[in-house]
Amino acid sequence: MGKKGIFIAFEGLDGSGKTTQLQALRDYMLNEKNTKCKEECEPSDGLLGIMARGAVKKKIYFEPQTMALLFAADRYEHVTNDIKPYIDKGFHVLSDRYVLSNFAYQGMTCDFETIYNYNKAAMDLLMPDLTVLIDAAPEKSMERIEETRLKKELFDDDGGAISPNYLSAIEWLAKKGLVEIIGGCSPAGDNGVPKVLIVDGNRHEAAVSREIISYAEPLLFSS
Ligand code: TMP
Repeated sequence: MGKKGIFIAFEGLDGSGKTTQLQALRDYMLNEKNTKCKEECEPSDGLLGIMARGAVKKKIYFEPQTMALLFAADRYEHVTNDIKPYIDKGFHVLSDRYVLSNFAYQGMTCDFETIYNYNKAAMDLLMPDLTVLIDAAPEKSMERIEETRLKKELFDDDGGAISPNYLSAIEWLAKKGLVEIIGGCSPAGDNGVPKVLIVDGNRHEAAVSREIISYAEPLLFSS
């Protein structure tokens, strides 16, 4: 069997710059390294993802538990049909959000163990080799959203709570041995444990992307 691709997920508040950073890594892979990648996002554009997006845009209401299940169900469909088959074929996949979003957002109303149980099927199938959290100040992220959005979305006022919840979720997953936190004095070792990189998103875009590339590069371009 050929070499598998690498799966990288980008996480952060809306307005944190995660999509810009995903695109910067994509462009680097394409232009500097001549490596194509597949871009994905969650909620997906499948039926379950459309329902989840409808709830985020406040067009439909679901109970918090239903929301957690809905995002997790969308993820299972998405990873099974649109991510894993490509990784297995050797494509690199970059996804705007994955399982950590469920912990950070739905973890505000459900405990982490419950979120884990809902996501276990997807996580058993595929965890990102690297999850990049763009850790940006909630107020700054909110400002950016307000510039572009016509109508408020479900979680727009919750950045102040979601931001620390991202960090709590990462610590919880690390304690369970499901992820390993890298960055600073903890470089990526090749022990097979999915890596999480927390980057300070309050800096200039180019500085943030340089840091991300420095950690992604050894994963993507090792022979
Ligand atoms: P985005 O497309 O701008 O990133 O927005 C997606 C929204 O969906 C964002 O508010 C976060 C939310 N979301 C969850 O609450 N849980 C999840 O598991 C995912 C994937 C997204």
